[in-house]
Amino acid sequence: MALPTIAILGTGSYVPERVLTNDELAKLVDTSDEWITTRTGIKQRRIAAKDQATSDLAAAAGQAALRDAGLSPADINLVIVATLSPDMPMPACATIVQHKLGVPQHAACFDLNAACSGFLYGLDTAWAMLSSGRYKHALVIGAEKLSAFVDWKDRSTCVLFGDAAGAVVLGPSRGDGARIIGSRLYSEGGMKDLLCIPNGGSAFPPDNNSVSNGGHFIKMKGREVFKVAVREMEDAIEEILEQHGLSVDQIACVIPHQANLRIIDAISKSLGVSLDRFFINVDRYGNTSAASVPLALDEARKAGRVKRGDVTLLVAFGAGLTYGASLVRW
Ligand code: ACO
Repeated sequence: MALPTIAILGTGSYVPERVLTNDELAKLVDTSDEWITTRTGIKQRRIAAKDQATSDLAAAAGQAALRDAGLSPADINLVIVATLSPDMPMPACATIVQHKLGVPQHAACFDLNAACSGFLYGLDTAWAMLSSGRYKHALVIGAEKLSAFVDWKDRSTCVLFGDAAGAVVLGPSRGDGARIIGSRLYSEGGMKDLLCIPNGGSAFPPDNNSVSNGGHFIKMKGREVFKVAVREMEDAIEEILEQHGLSVDQIACVIPHQANLRIIDAISKSLGVSLDRFFINVDRYGNTSAASVPLALDEARKAGRVKRGDVTLLVAFGAGLTYGASLVRW
């Protein structure tokens, strides 16, 4: 049996209604719009409502991607939700999303945590599973309600993160040349302390101390993460282009993880690619971790930045530290 060529058949995204601006944050912590804008490029972020969980954001993005692909939930037999902020430790957010969307019970549904690289890990995993011919259509979703894990008293982190979801539908190529060209994933596990949520897991289960010390909030050594992130994403881009015999000039649009405009700018300079070939929406959403790349991808398509026949490069890094890159032809 000939194995199928796999393509992205549709994209979708969802952001919560509530906009939190830098000026509003300046009333909560000792910061300013000027500091946040110049250090990060972020102007505002979205915050999910109290009664919205990550699965709600994920299901909305998944529904939009299905519509874009012209498929229904009944066509899906694999759901992967990349997230570091699932509704609860168990069951998997993907099973909750399955139920909310009405995906049938013969579908395999699981979560994947590779922090901000999670969507690229999910894309690679689904691509491999579909390429085997054992699954036909997959929904790969990156979704986060990071506002639930942010210490709103810590100015060094609370200004950075936001809530969102982005999704793609993967399936057999429709004969138009669209396909996933390649994917490379990496991790440097020795750097876990640079970026983590230290408490609440099996190493340090929640207790009164962990809660009063804020151990269940995101902790980050920002300056160190910055340096490693630039180096890792540059390496991932160079390796994947070399592996597939492509030059950076053949990439129509780079869709990077949206953590910090200065990180994206540093990569653009080191690659010699002008910033206008990158798709950037960090100003409007901040860092939405696993949702960041699929949200940017969906917006880039809707803005006409990704056209038929184009090759796009997706690149991300995140806690772990994990990183990776993918090449997609449309
Ligand atoms: N407002 C005002 N001042 C602040 C703020 C704030 N919000 N936050 C920190 N500062 C202060 C610091 O206290 C420090 O003051 P000091 O010099 O008196 O000590 C000063 O600003 C400089 O702090 P730095 O941390 O050196 O600032 P830097 O220029 O490195 O910017 C930032 C910090 C934005 C966090 C940057 O380092 C960064 O973006 N790092 C990468 C973060 C990242 O990409 N994380 C990805 C997460 S991926 C995932 O998996 C979730």
